[in-house]
Amino acid sequence: MKCAPGETLTDYGIALGSNVGDRLSHLLTALGALAELGEIRAVSAAYQTAPVDCEGGAPPFLNAVAELRSAWGAEALWERLREIERGLGRPERRPQNAPRPIDLDILYAGKQVWRSEALTVPHPRLQGRRFVLEPLAAIRPDLVLPGFAVDVRTLLAELVSDEPPLLRYADLGAAVGRRGLAESWAAVAALKPAGRKLVCLTAGDYATARLLDEGGVDVVLAGDSLGMVLLGYQDTVEVTLAEMVQHTRAVRRGVKRAPLLGDLPFGTYATPELAVASARALVQAGADGVKLEGGVAMLPQVRAILAAGIPVVGHIGMLPQSVREEGGYKKKGRTEAAAAGLLADARALDEAGVEAIVLEGVVAAVAAAISQEVSCPTIGIGAGPDCDGQVLVTADLVGAFPWFRPPFAQARGDVAGVIRKAVAEFAEDVRG
Ligand code: KIV
Repeated sequence: MKCAPGETLTDYGIALGSNVGDRLSHLLTALGALAELGEIRAVSAAYQTAPVDCEGGAPPFLNAVAELRSAWGAEALWERLREIERGLGRPERRPQNAPRPIDLDILYAGKQVWRSEALTVPHPRLQGRRFVLEPLAAIRPDLVLPGFAVDVRTLLAELVSDEPPLLRYADLGAAVGRRGLAESWAAVAALKPAGRKLVCLTAGDYATARLLDEGGVDVVLAGDSLGMVLLGYQDTVEVTLAEMVQHTRAVRRGVKRAPLLGDLPFGTYATPELAVASARALVQAGADGVKLEGGVAMLPQVRAILAAGIPVVGHIGMLPQSVREEGGYKKKGRTEAAAAGLLADARALDEAGVEAIVLEGVVAAVAAAISQEVSCPTIGIGAGPDCDGQVLVTADLVGAFPWFRPPFAQARGDVAGVIRKAVAEFAEDVRG
């Protein structure tokens, strides 16, 4: 058997299925592992499907199909798929069709027709299964498999099956083709030792995100300030995880290059378990890491998220999610004790392994001292010029939110003015 990748590249159709535990995470983890074996050329959405040929009461599946271009031979790839399944907790021996965290099948292997004890390609039951044909038709409708007279689209149209309709459950495209989560932060980590400042701006929509990414910012933050500048809330406390997921998805579509930082909204990281679940939701929406507010008090949450393999950025100083408790936006680090507290927070986050720390509304000298002290970059906002980088809410930078702008944010544009003028001119044209 061939047990190392060779020279020839083959396009494999791989069916993925999961009906136990965090099914979407299992599919995403399996896709990540597949990406190590070649290039994922296409991936369907994840569809929720009724179990087929399973015991009564079996939980529903999430199914998807990916096409992998790989140098592994078919049988060796089959072995690798078994390893991925085992890595995701699928026991070696189990009753046939028992619930499983992950099921990976080779549907086709380029133009090969193959029959061995372990593997038959094309998969012998492929054309009778809606949960395979529908996702496959979504990515390769024109594919005519070896031994078949018609393309996949036609196989699906001609399928006679009593399977209920598939429910489109989640987009998997955002997770594929992205660099590994840790890898996407490598360029950020290199800035501070090289003495270069980090530039971060916020985005809550596709167009802004794309403009920032194309403009060369180092980090795009899908920050919960979008609750104020895009959704019209009075503060960030009202923002929900569902809203952050939706906006993070939109931002992901626009960001191809910089790491995309998702912001955990208020109330979604009260415990380490909740923090991990919320962070996963943002990663599934496309974030390359998450930011959360708080220092030493948040260490259990920070450690739990990091242990789940998700990069974290800290946020200390003036914490917008605590504005109601604190009765307003107040500068931090004014007394010696407060400055020492901030330094302890920053040190603890740095030692835990965060990618960076946002210092918001911190006395400039204190922010400078923290920046000297910690190894990770600090990103200042209203914290003086001596942080390792700066972040602004993009609406403040471009003058898109004229009703309030913090004093430290210098507007370099007048988007609100441009819109007002264009509206007036258009109205005049229309009304005559
Ligand atoms: O949500 C946001 O925009 C932020 C920045 C102010 C850092 O957290």
